[in-house]
Amino acid sequence: MARYELVKRSVALITLTNPPVNALSSAVRHGIAKTMERALSDPKVTAVVICGENGRFCGGADIREFAGPLRGPPLVPLLDSIEAGEKPVVAAIEGVALGGGLELALFCHYRIAHFKARLGLPEVTLGILPAAGGTQRLPRLIGIPAALELITTGRHVSAQEALKLGIVDQVTEQNACEVAVEFALRAVAKPLSSRRLSSLTTPCPPNLDALLEAVTMQIQKKARGVMAPLACVQAVRAAATMPYSQGIKRESELMATLFNSGQARALQYCFFAERTAGKWTLPSGAQWNDIKPREIRSAAVIGLGTMGRGIAVSLARVGIPVIAVESDKKLLETGRQMVIGMLERDAKRRGVSASHNLLKFTLGLQDLKDVDLVIEAVFEDMALKKSVFRELSKVCRPATLFCTNTSGLDVDALAGVTDRPQLVIGMHFFSPAHVMKLLEVVCGPRSSSEIVATAMSLGKRMGKVSVAVGNCPGFVGNRMLKPYSDQATFLLEEGATPEQIDKALEDFGFAMGVFRMSDLAGLDVGWRVRKESGLTGPDVDPKNPPRRRQGRKYCPIPDMVCEQGRFGQKTGRGWYMYDKPGGTKAKPDPLIQNLIEMYRNRYGIQPRNITDQEIIERCLFALANEGFRILEDGIAARPEDIDVIYLFGYGFPRHRGGPMFYASMVGLQRVLERLEHYHQAHPDVPHLEPSPLLKKLVACGSPPVQKWREHIKTMHSHL
Ligand code: CAA
Ligand code: NAI
Repeated sequence: MARYELVKRSVALITLTNPPVNALSSAVRHGIAKTMERALSDPKVTAVVICGENGRFCGGADIREFAGPLRGPPLVPLLDSIEAGEKPVVAAIEGVALGGGLELALFCHYRIAHFKARLGLPEVTLGILPAAGGTQRLPRLIGIPAALELITTGRHVSAQEALKLGIVDQVTEQNACEVAVEFALRAVAKPLSSRRLSSLTTPCPPNLDALLEAVTMQIQKKARGVMAPLACVQAVRAAATMPYSQGIKRESELMATLFNSGQARALQYCFFAERTAGKWTLPSGAQWNDIKPREIRSAAVIGLGTMGRGIAVSLARVGIPVIAVESDKKLLETGRQMVIGMLERDAKRRGVSASHNLLKFTLGLQDLKDVDLVIEAVFEDMALKKSVFRELSKVCRPATLFCTNTSGLDVDALAGVTDRPQLVIGMHFFSPAHVMKLLEVVCGPRSSSEIVATAMSLGKRMGKVSVAVGNCPGFVGNRMLKPYSDQATFLLEEGATPEQIDKALEDFGFAMGVFRMSDLAGLDVGWRVRKESGLTGPDVDPKNPPRRRQGRKYCPIPDMVCEQGRFGQKTGRGWYMYDKPGGTKAKPDPLIQNLIEMYRNRYGIQPRNITDQEIIERCLFALANEGFRILEDGIAARPEDIDVIYLFGYGFPRHRGGPMFYASMVGLQRVLERLEHYHQAHPDVPHLEPSPLLKKLVACGSPPVQKWREHIKTMHSHL
């Protein structure tokens, strides 16, 4: 796991060989220990270079080993011997030096980086801290403010930035290993004492306390309830205020508080879940690694509204020529200006030039005859979408792939009106489409494996986290959202306020509670959907008992809010009031309080005191319960897929791992008992009735989330 060679007669070249990222597994640590010992004891060797195989220095500790007991040599004593030696050791950094990888490099006396390399201490994103000396050595090397920023955010820096900060000694466009060998030979005669970071004093700013305080407050505001960044601040404080030997002890004490925490487990689960999500399998047996996606050289977007604009930008910025279509001249011109403006702002932010020449705008579908792929993003109206797809079947060449960005309509019904149902798929983007990372790839029963592979690969090319899901109303994300938001409105009826519910959810970790989020998205969208499905408006049967629709409990308060023209932020009024239309600062509105009180009076509802615990349990257990049903129905293949959808599309707090992982952490037995309790109290709310899969998993001893698949029937798989 670490190869040893003697080069230039006197340089020991140690290459880490643990593909794909040369993670520091126990075998690699053994390898480093053995090869370093050999290098330091061989009198022929005057200097050492450490590099990684396949152009990657090292991706840090092997995260998979965190779940088990520590095996192999511990990292810090091993690295101490590198620093303490009398022979210069140079790290040749190509690809990445992350986490323990960068820490290894910080124990070396010199660091040479290839110009394309990225460096960082991303441990905080895994719920831990850089405990192989990183929190003590980086501040000594680059000072407190810069080290604090890198360690508390986990941000990766380019080789150029690393050089500017002083993390590396040289950046090269040549082979970093060869350059490092030459560098090492030149370093042989030089004294090493000033190169040993443990012997340096941390350069300390005069306003240390104020700086640490400001960073702590920023973290508490941005990452409410997240432990690791706060522990990182404490560790960096130790680097500033303690000698190295004590600081390193403090670092490991802080690590001990984090290492086995639920947050660390959740964040590490998220790391792997994100990577698992791309690995789709269809009922036919076709899967991600054996189907070749089609190359997409041109695309079209139909409809330049909220979604179409962002989709056009997402395609153009990865170099795909786009033809954008609108329904009339004025809308086309507005859409054109918006798309170009978005593309320019995006390019400016990324420091590249905007690719205007890739965009064409037209009113005629006939201009799409030669494109490789079309993404339809017109209004959420089945008849309209069908007419667009019928027309596309006539004008596009037979091989063109058809995608719909519907947020919940039947993808197969749309496929059915085309001349190529096997080439039709859903690509459900999230708003704003050029910013949000999630893409649900909705596979209809007739979608071919080739189109699934192509949509998934196109999503990846656009920088999205793509998840393959089955076709059902609302797919995965929006289907689960319904029980979650229904619970929130039922809680309003029973005695809670929008701000109390939002606060409980925000304290849990959501960036926004359900009501603030609805105000942002626009309340009219859901109102229109409810009217179309006969839940509210003139089509409702007057014989319906109040507060019941289609045989189940229904809360009309959201409709009453919309009837007053309160559509959320865009109208300056919604569940909250805002200083102006488009304003973002939400203030509780006494009119909403009155509306809810009048409603309770009308139906004789006696408000009761509702605890935050009830809010969390009712909203989140109902959410997870629907997730279990989705797994049962074969609409999602794995709990990880559901969690990834909620993390990237719905702002679920990452340190909780996603709704399914959260349920497993709470304990499936407890989730089941609470759902049974709430369902007993609300028998007319079917979403609270525990799903058969949840009951089955509890009966099987509540296996960990990674093992649920073994208990899920696959015969109903829609994937
Ligand atoms: N441990 C174990 N497996 C890892 C890993 C790690 N540190 N880093 C990557 N992998 C695995 C991935 O799970 C993936 O496996 P599969 O192919 O089975 O899905 C494979 O390596 C390739 O990874 P990516 O798909 O992510 O490849 P990429 O080229 O897109 O990205 C990367 C490469 C930038 C290194 C990225 O994998 C990454 O960010 N890795 C994690 C880096 C990190 O957080 N390191 C800190 C670890 S904690 C630590 O080091 C503690 C300490 O102080 C000692
Ligand atoms: P929108 O109302 O902002 O835009 C729709 C656009 O389509 C309008 O500009 C309209 O002029 C255009 N259009 C209508 N008929 C057309 C035709 N025949 N040819 C060309 N253009 C036509 O709607 P939005 O929000 O962009 O939604 C589009 C689709 O995306 C819907 O299916 C919606 O459900 C879905 N969606 C919406 C999300 C959102 O947050 N807004 C999120 C995810 C999906």
